Amino acid sequence: MKITISEVSKYVGQEVKIGVWLANKRSSGKIQFLQLRDGTGFIQGVIVKSEVSEEAWNIAKELTQESSFYVNGIVREDHRSPSGYELTVTDLSIIQITEDYPITPKEHGTEFLMDHRHLWLRSSRQHAILRIRNEIIRATYEFFNEHGFIKIDPPILTGSSAEGTTDLFHTKYFDRDAYLSQSGQLYMEAAAMAFGKVFSFGPTFRAEKSKTRRHLIEFWMIEPEMAFTDHEESLKIQEQYVSFIVQSVLKNCRMELKTLDRDISKLEKVQAPFPRISYDKAIELLKEKGFDDIEWGEDFGAPHETAIAESFDKPVFITNYPASIKAFYMKPDPDREEVVLCADLIAPEGYGEIIGGSQRIDDLELLKKRYEEHNLTDPAYEWYLELRKYGSVPHSGFGLGLERTVAWISGTEHVRETIPFPRLLNRIYP
Ligand code: 4AD
Ligand code: MG
Repeated sequence: MKITISEVSKYVGQEVKIGVWLANKRSSGKIQFLQLRDGTGFIQGVIVKSEVSEEAWNIAKELTQESSFYVNGIVREDHRSPSGYELTVTDLSIIQITEDYPITPKEHGTEFLMDHRHLWLRSSRQHAILRIRNEIIRATYEFFNEHGFIKIDPPILTGSSAEGTTDLFHTKYFDRDAYLSQSGQLYMEAAAMAFGKVFSFGPTFRAEKSKTRRHLIEFWMIEPEMAFTDHEESLKIQEQYVSFIVQSVLKNCRMELKTLDRDISKLEKVQAPFPRISYDKAIELLKEKGFDDIEWGEDFGAPHETAIAESFDKPVFITNYPASIKAFYMKPDPDREEVVLCADLIAPEGYGEIIGGSQRIDDLELLKKRYEEHNLTDPAYEWYLELRKYGSVPHSGFGLGLERTVAWISGTEHVRETIPFPRLLNRIYP
């Protein structure tokens, strides 16, 4: 019976066949211990000289790291092994003997590993991180489907920019200009007026010259948008959504979190509601913490966000930023025009902003005014203004950065390890 490692629990005591790669090997004379992986998991294969053919024993001796082969064996329960199972090998058939695999069990530098990202993906740490990424994506679809959202796919090639005109990747679009999308939001607003509650999940591109552990040039964003929904209602959805994905990872990725040595007691606390602090209060808090230079009206950098997050053991919403440092489409607070109805959600433990969201301006005249004030004269967004002409309603939405969220939940220092093939300021290989 040909199975995968993830299925072994159903075959205890039976002989199975699994297509595998050799992750590592240890030998003690008459027994060889093979660390096997097949993409679905890891299992130890034990081969005893006196119990197999001479040929099988010799093949096992020849196996090098990352050699590929089929292994036959009997599944045994084994409480000492991390997976809970072991394979007593009965036979082996080689597919390829690998020579000089570059990533050995010894330590390698980051640049070396990044140059070999196409192979590095096979290591147990990277495997665990990307499985957590997969679980967050799965849980995202579950959450939004269960809450009555429709998935809508905004375009990636656009005629103009959503967030302002800087940081855009430019390309030719036949004899015109086009840009890679920085955010699908404006299109999602059109979709919300057609379908009520919508969400998108796709790649976004920012030509930011930032070289930090939180910035990617190409990253994936989940962007929900909701008609007839004010800022307060949007915050409730955000905290429920983030709690749900954290709890889903805790439930479905125990092994991966263990592989990564993640302190799960910190994740267990992540349950809605989340604390909130206004931008004004955040400025006061920062001054108390010794950031004497920060003035009202300035945006927060990573050190500010980390200092604010330290005061809380759950993600924290920073609300009502000054209009001057936020995007043109954010709705001003009716009681206080200089701030907008927005929030950034800051992850605990120094992982920074994972969500940016706001209520959107629904009044045509105000939106036009803001659009011009931001020097956005591009007629490519006529259609966006028109949404305020035909049945405009209060609406809100937000964008969650997938890689920063994976970094936080998996406890990974740098976002470059949270996406299969990261695009960084100095890297587009492999
Ligand atoms: O705060 P941002 O720029 O918000 C928007 O783009 C809105 N249009 C979203 C919306 O309301 N629909 O980006 C949203 C999130 C950030 O909170 C952050 O998690 C992530 O996207 N992000 C990045 N992640 C990795 N690398 C970068 N360069 C990122 N820039 C933003
Ligand atoms: Mg932001």
